[in-house]
Amino acid sequence: MCGIIGITCGSEPRESSHGVLDVLVEGLARLEYRGYDSAGLAVVGADPAAPLWRVRAADGTHSLDVVAKRADEAPTEATAGIGHTRWATHGRPNEGNAHPHADCTGRIALVHNGIIENHVELADELIADGHTMASETDTEVLAHLIEANLAADPSRTLADAVRASLPRVRGAFALAVIHAAEPGVIVAARRVSPLIMGIADGAAFLASDIPAILGLTHDFFVLDDDRVAELRPGSISVTTLDGTAAEPKPLHVDWDLDAARKDGYDDFMDKEIHEQPTAVADTLRDRVLPDGTLVLDEVRITNDELAAIDNVFVVACGSSFHAGLMAKYAIERWARLPVQVDIASEFRYRDPVLDSRTLVIGVSQSGETVDTFQAIVEAKRLGAKVLVISNVVDSSMAREADAVLYTRAGPEIGVAATKTHVAQITALEILALYLAQARETLSPTEARDLLSAMGALPGKVADAVARAGAVHTVAEAYRDASAFIFLGRHVGYPVALEGALKLKEISYLRAEGFPAGELKHGPIALIEPGTVVVGVATRTPVWEKMISNVAEVKSRGASVIVVADDGDDETARHADAVLWVPATEPLFSPLVDVVPLQQFAHSMARLHGLDVDRPRNLAKTVTVE
Ligand code: G6P
Repeated sequence: MCGIIGITCGSEPRESSHGVLDVLVEGLARLEYRGYDSAGLAVVGADPAAPLWRVRAADGTHSLDVVAKRADEAPTEATAGIGHTRWATHGRPNEGNAHPHADCTGRIALVHNGIIENHVELADELIADGHTMASETDTEVLAHLIEANLAADPSRTLADAVRASLPRVRGAFALAVIHAAEPGVIVAARRVSPLIMGIADGAAFLASDIPAILGLTHDFFVLDDDRVAELRPGSISVTTLDGTAAEPKPLHVDWDLDAARKDGYDDFMDKEIHEQPTAVADTLRDRVLPDGTLVLDEVRITNDELAAIDNVFVVACGSSFHAGLMAKYAIERWARLPVQVDIASEFRYRDPVLDSRTLVIGVSQSGETVDTFQAIVEAKRLGAKVLVISNVVDSSMAREADAVLYTRAGPEIGVAATKTHVAQITALEILALYLAQARETLSPTEARDLLSAMGALPGKVADAVARAGAVHTVAEAYRDASAFIFLGRHVGYPVALEGALKLKEISYLRAEGFPAGELKHGPIALIEPGTVVVGVATRTPVWEKMISNVAEVKSRGASVIVVADDGDDETARHADAVLWVPATEPLFSPLVDVVPLQQFAHSMARLHGLDVDRPRNLAKTVTVE
């Protein structure tokens, strides 16, 4: 977890448009979705004899504000700097554990994302050699290891010392280091954890993710595993760990900076909910030819290989898992393939039965979630074909997979997934139809009707998004409720799970989702007067059964809110409040039905005065088990 950033741009940069401190603070603000337990930065000046300057704060969601205020005390001649926003794993979220970490001399500072698995062993050795550890983190050993390797051979540069240190390190890392003796130099390295770099206007910079430095360039370089990069003003040189020159991989990104800002909305989540019609349209774009053929150029699995697939697994976490559950119905119905949907952290440890005829679909917005990443690694090891659905071009999972289908939602900043979730559902529905096409399991008429319904989805999602005011009115009526049960059947079941997840994530209210058919096997015992039940009751093949379940909870005193198709008075009759949505083909309905549930959670959180973009204890990208 955590986000790192670094920039070098020569002397007197604070007068330039890309001042070191401004870039660090702005970049960290855009990386906070990776964690925000604490924040910190360090800069070196132009004089190699001068000390480096470091500031750190652990004030919860205000940490970066504190750091930004203190940045005014930094030396004006800062030539290079590194910054960090933390999601605590090893060591409590306090100032002493905040990055950057320093060596014993205080002249080396380092930021790190990942986990150093052998930190205890390294720390023991370093302490025996006279080093003093000032924090409880796994990271700090790196600063001391580099210090030791610099001291071991005075002819070594900082980059040499990093290269000498990393072979000793086990685990995952993206790191950036500065040394007071080397003004204007940042040394970066990575293994597993993401790191991108760029050059613009005489500066060079690095970050964990694209939004952090999107305002500076659209052309990035991806650092491969076990490579060390030396960044100087306007240049980047890369080597392997043995010092052999290597080329970083170029990556062009079309996103604009506005996409990573709030655009006048109060919070990113609201902005991202409003971007959903575009996310769906962009994910569909160019993938359906006028004659109805689906083209997934990126899917580098041949039609013959696809035709040979005889079972499918979807592995994912969080909202991505729910998108996978929604897709199961479409793949089974249209492509006639059995589908199992697994929580990634369970899949990888349960010895799944896979072979070369199995297609494993890893669904991950970030493409970095460690459990999903390791699940697809395991799937590949067992011989399955792996396809990844990711929103981030060239993410770790995209690189690991046999094939990638990108969602094109643009950067998502709010911790709670919204637009990337609907883009994932869209991509999975496209994939379901593509598999059906390859396997010839749909009649031409059925396929044509489905493609036509798919083309109408961006408009329907836009229609649903436009009803935020009506959803807010319903949320106001239930603002004092403290327990919610979400019910659904068929494709409405994963929608109910996602509605409950959104509500608990950002409003901290008790909310659980259940398949409505399971109600009588336990959850119905929770119903008492005042319990709020949210039922997903749009017209799927099991609508009548769903309505019976709604009637059962209502007769036991629950207050009932339903998601219902426009004009469906029969459904509305069973409810105290209705979240209306435009009707659509049942297997596409999750895309539309989830929208009012996102808005309901958003309204509840705002009514409770909570920070919807940065819910407590959560992080957007979970890169630890
Ligand atoms: C975290 C986020 C969720 C997200 C999940 C999976 O828990 O808070 O919003 O759904 O990770 O993330 P991924 O990037 O793999 O889709």
